[in-house]
Amino acid sequence: MKTFDNIKIIKHPLVQDKLSRMRDSATSSRDFRFLLRELSSLMAFEVTRDIKTESASVRTPLGLEAKGVRVNHREIVLVTIFRAGVGMAEGVLEVIPQARVGHVGIYRNPETLDAVQYYHKLPPDIAASSLVLLIDPMLATGNTMVRTLEVCRDAGAENIRIMCLVAAPEGVEKVREKFKKVPIYTAALDEKLDDHGYIIPGLGDAGDRIFGTR
Ligand code: URA
Repeated sequence: MKTFDNIKIIKHPLVQDKLSRMRDSATSSRDFRFLLRELSSLMAFEVTRDIKTESASVRTPLGLEAKGVRVNHREIVLVTIFRAGVGMAEGVLEVIPQARVGHVGIYRNPETLDAVQYYHKLPPDIAASSLVLLIDPMLATGNTMVRTLEVCRDAGAENIRIMCLVAAPEGVEKVREKFKKVPIYTAALDEKLDDHGYIIPGLGDAGDRIFGTR
């Protein structure tokens, strides 16, 4: 399999266990949503491993000073891509509860697989954020992700990272071509895309499985 320098695969056993359960076609929508939320929280640990911290000092119940660090949650912006990205945002917000959340609405033209953007709403000061995390479970053709990257870049976002569950080589390549410096954190790099732009073996249509629409 081809290797990429812009991707980090999170191999933690708990991440891989939850991903395998999500791939299983017997997993219900209810369980799929629950696993997605848990997996997103776990992955957020790895994605934020080296983020900016500020030193902090608190007084403990013993009246003693304890030195530590704080993360300014509000400097972190999550950008979810409708629809499936919304399910991941909830998991990330469990561990960064005061992060701000932007939304980008994009659908795939089923014939051309081109990304068609119909909506976006980002925090107005996104340019001042310490981290902008784009979240979408499936990085397939990369068209949607590249369009989202353009929207964020045009709004002034600088330190951008991508978090997905499953990536296809085609999507990773497309992101690297257009946004060389943006790292992709994923739980798996799968084999390829099928003729309809689905990831093989993948986990099916993430939006349909989250929302039970098929
Ligand atoms: N989007 C999905 O939900 N699944 C895929 O396999 C590809 C794109």
